[in-house]
Amino acid sequence: MNVLVIGSGGREHAIVHKMKQDGIKNIYCAPGNAGIEELATCVPLKVDDVRGLVDFALEKKVYLTVVGPESALQAGVVDAFTASGLTIFGPTRQAALLETSKSFAKTLLKKYDIPSPHFEVFDTSADALDYAGTIAYPAVIKADGIAAGKGVIIVADRSQAAAAIRDIMDNRVFGDAGKVVLIEEFLKGAESSYFVVANERGFVPLGSARDYKRLCDHDDGPNTGGMGALSPSDKLSPQLEEKVVNKIVSPLMGALEKEGIVYRGVLYAGLMIVGGEPYVLEFNARFGDPETQALLPRLEGEMIGILTDSAKGRTFSDRLSLRQDVSVCVVMASKGYPAGPQANTVIEGLKDAVGKDIFIFHAGTKNERGVIKTAGGRVLGVTALGENAHGARERVYKAINSIVFDGAQFRSDIGL
Ligand SMILES: Nc1ncnc2c1ncn2[C@@H]1O[C@H](COP(=O)(O)OP(=O)(O)O)[C@@H](O)[C@H]1O
Ligand SMILES: [Mg+2]
Repeated sequence: MNVLVIGSGGREHAIVHKMKQDGIKNIYCAPGNAGIEELATCVPLKVDDVRGLVDFALEKKVYLTVVGPESALQAGVVDAFTASGLTIFGPTRQAALLETSKSFAKTLLKKYDIPSPHFEVFDTSADALDYAGTIAYPAVIKADGIAAGKGVIIVADRSQAAAAIRDIMDNRVFGDAGKVVLIEEFLKGAESSYFVVANERGFVPLGSARDYKRLCDHDDGPNTGGMGALSPSDKLSPQLEEKVVNKIVSPLMGALEKEGIVYRGVLYAGLMIVGGEPYVLEFNARFGDPETQALLPRLEGEMIGILTDSAKGRTFSDRLSLRQDVSVCVVMASKGYPAGPQANTVIEGLKDAVGKDIFIFHAGTKNERGVIKTAGGRVLGVTALGENAHGARERVYKAINSIVFDGAQFRSDIGL
């Protein structure tokens, strides 16, 4: 059986690793990285090279393709694979609007009374600026489209709101993602993410995680792609998880059905918990990174069957079971990340760091004649499992301390 994974980050390494555990012998990854290379055949195709990917999958008779990054979804990879009769795990471009258009997602939530902060949508800056004069602060200004995780600005007063609106809509600092803007009520609470694998017939819960977006300890410093993750989230009790399923996931599945939207893939809900109630901040249409690096090592049993059921639109034949253990993933990033990451630094100590229930997932790495070097902003994700967060933290930081590269940055408070 041939399987193809699209992407090159720690998320994709975690997916490939799980597939290997599932007993899949022949795994391809496009384009992959130096860690993935040890488990899979890496193929030098870009994640948005739709034609190249389809041709490759046809040629190799790939049984199932799994999409990592949203850029591939947005490029229409799923639509093209499906049109060629190939089986692919991930939503079509239309269904991925749940992530790629915040106004689309929020309007659907509102129509079906699914809890989410109050919002208004604007397609001219004049209207948005007027509205900004009538609301309470702090408030949240959001670019409608995909803005590399930078399109959401929390503003303290009307003048900050005006500056954000002008930047997004008039100066187009996020390009076309800022054609439309949302102004949203600010919610104060605790954030968590919740994941399910879905299709038009139902869903399978995949568990929760908490991610750490800021570069430095205590949530200081600039925003990043994610500096670590804790799974399960310490902010989502089993009772709260039940509420998330009953008040958010199930009603959303009903809403998609009524709207005639076939959604296949991972559905990732970004949540704010306020007074014991979950509210949706956003959806992502894919596995999160680094959350997936914390989540997948907790999975017991096979994953491939569930992904295949989702992709083929079949009734799920199985549930996913998760180990009770707590998982902590700490990202090691390059010197200069996120503003100007430096590449080509030799990474040492990788072999000494591995151990039972310790996983070293590669992201921005490359293999130059046997020497592993940095090749991007986020370099490695180191995950450890433990009986509790304390135990997992001890093990993950012990592993991290044996990995050395010049200028490495990582947070020391993940899971604390
Ligand atoms: N309504 C809100 N109230 C408070 N904080 C918010 C709100 N919406 C977003 N945020 C904060 O901004 C972050 C990014 O927003 P999100 O909607 O997840 O967009 P994206 O991940 O696409 O940048 C969230 O993780 C959260 O910390
Ligand atoms: Mg988010």
